[in-house]
Amino acid sequence: MKSITKYSNLFKPITIGNLLFKNRIFSAPTSLNWGAVDGNLTPETIAYYELKARGGAAVVTMGESIVHTLTGKSHDRQIELDNPTSLVGLSQLAKAIKRHGAVPSAELSHGGKWGGLISMAGSLKADRVAYGPSAEMTEAGEVKEMPEKLLLEIIESFGKGAAVLKRAGFEMCMVHAGHGWFFGQFLSPKTNHRTDRFGGSFENRARVLVMALESIRRNVGPGFPIEVRMSGDEFISGGITAEEGIKLAKTIEGKCDLINVSAGMHENLELYIRTHPTQFAEKGPNVYLAEAIRKEVKIPVSTVGAIVDPEMMEEIIASGKADIVELGRPLLADPYLPNKLREGKEKEITKCLRCMGCFGESLKTETTSCTVNPVIGNEFNEWIAKSQPTTPKKVMIIGGGPGGMKAAITAAERGHDVVLYEKSDTLGGALKFAKYVDFKYGLYEFKEVLEYLLKKSTVCIHMNTEATTETVESENPDVLLLAVGASPILPCIKGIDGKNVKLAEDVYGNENQVGETVVILGGGLVGCETAAHLARRGKKVTIVEMRQDIALDSEVFYRTAMKVDLSRNNVKVITNAIGLAVNEVGLVIKTQDGNEKLIKAETVISAAGYRADHVLFQEMSNAAPVVQIIGDCRRPGKVTNAVSDGYYIALDI
Ligand SMILES: Cc1cc2nc3c(=O)[nH]c(=O)nc-3n(C[C@H](O)[C@H](O)[C@H](O)COP(=O)(O)O)c2cc1C
Ligand code: SF4
Repeated sequence: MKSITKYSNLFKPITIGNLLFKNRIFSAPTSLNWGAVDGNLTPETIAYYELKARGGAAVVTMGESIVHTLTGKSHDRQIELDNPTSLVGLSQLAKAIKRHGAVPSAELSHGGKWGGLISMAGSLKADRVAYGPSAEMTEAGEVKEMPEKLLLEIIESFGKGAAVLKRAGFEMCMVHAGHGWFFGQFLSPKTNHRTDRFGGSFENRARVLVMALESIRRNVGPGFPIEVRMSGDEFISGGITAEEGIKLAKTIEGKCDLINVSAGMHENLELYIRTHPTQFAEKGPNVYLAEAIRKEVKIPVSTVGAIVDPEMMEEIIASGKADIVELGRPLLADPYLPNKLREGKEKEITKCLRCMGCFGESLKTETTSCTVNPVIGNEFNEWIAKSQPTTPKKVMIIGGGPGGMKAAITAAERGHDVVLYEKSDTLGGALKFAKYVDFKYGLYEFKEVLEYLLKKSTVCIHMNTEATTETVESENPDVLLLAVGASPILPCIKGIDGKNVKLAEDVYGNENQVGETVVILGGGLVGCETAAHLARRGKKVTIVEMRQDIALDSEVFYRTAMKVDLSRNNVKVITNAIGLAVNEVGLVIKTQDGNEKLIKAETVISAAGYRADHVLFQEMSNAAPVVQIIGDCRRPGKVTNAVSDGYYIALDI
């Protein structure tokens, strides 16, 4: 029979255990730092996971379900499977996922030593003892060797946790044996130095996992699919290697039904970004690990990690590198990715940028958001807002950047009569520069999606047209939205108007006009990204930053990844220094010790930040019954603010 989708391998059903799965796209666990209160799931968390089921994934896996509350929680807001009150929320979640034809799964987890050491959202650490495979002193505190009696109790708690899931209606479970959590710590020679039957040889280190899998099977019975998530390589000296990863897979294949091959461990930030590959790394970096394991085992194998392009997903299955692709962040960026692929709507898919904005937000505020998807972290309220009826209004938007486009698309979808004015000949605002930057190309693709949706919508677009007060008068809108962006700030120093000076944004697409040696004045996010871009093209780059560190306006994971990239490309960084003057041979700076120094460079690039453009708002603030400002012209920031402003302000109309 003729297939309606060109992704016929991705949409080929698969049977695992006694269950048939509708496609090969599984939603990898992406837990929320605020996922539960007192161990119980909240309606917001249920809405978060339900959205992924609605979007077409075959399986939706809830992350981090803790099996042994007393020792296993690595932050306050995790679901507690051994808490009798958690059954209600679990059952509601299982039903919500099943309602959309997906299989509900949950990840059985224990933080191991981190269970006593980390407290992401409260005071867990204060009254807890941290138990790991072996005693150690870490920066976060002391870890005691786990006594065998406690170890056996925790092993059994995995079985009991699985039984709770099954009772609640979950049809599958995942065991978290990767990333350096409980099982990972026992498996890894890096962290396990025991001398009893749970340490030393590979068989001894794997014993805890094998016993837990046996306990789970006893509790869920035959046919109930058990998935094991493992790190195919920990990428740390003295840790699990790819060779040992294969050995592990062969050891457990008789005890589980599916192996998910991830990578890395959470001992430090650089390894953390190996588990969650950023835009500075290649796409699909773990596929080769899954492929090697799949050749050695008889059960299905899935791969995960920065698989963002549909063509890559299809190729992985078609070529037999893995049986299933698991998507974490790609289903935050666009939960409807599976349905869109099936329906041939690839052009409407918002791809994950691998920017780590989601994790950065979790670390900063304990909430979750996504740079390109304003719904994430607000699914519950958004669903209510979207369901409210609205009366059609005339909406005028000035500015065709990401915020303006998002507002226009959303307002048009809600049935409003929308007109958009853009003064230049291109849409996308600052996103258009991303076309020239390999590690930011995802942002350019995002612009393309917005542009496609805008042009497909009923929005009336006026390009090359600067909207004035007269234009507003003649349009006579009910709602006027200003999304005119921000202007770069030029530092007031001598020589800044020199021929050898360029603004960061003028570099993109004009790299051949930049000298071989470059000094960048301003080491915030924009300056650092410009440095990374030019250094990748072989230029010798120095960053001068007045603060104590670079990229302090970006989140920690992105900053870590960017710093690795800058250092790999030999970018020099001078912090605690200010620019004094530009001359024909470079930039004169004042260093921390008060000395003046000339940094020789053919080109000086100014990256001193942006100033919101409030002029238009001052002029037009009373030109319509509702006037709002969106994105950078409200407060210069990241694309996430612009997109979120545009979406929610349009929903309010
Ligand atoms: C917000 C967020 C939360 C996550 N939570 C979990 C979790 O609870 N358990 C887990 O095993 N992995 C977790 N991960 C890791 C993902 O499952 C996945 O392995 C990783 O993000 C790489 O895949 P991706 O590039 O498809 O996102 C999380 C990732 C994100 C972005
Ligand atoms: S915030 Fe960035 S990395 Fe996270 S899901 Fe969204 S686009 Fe992907």
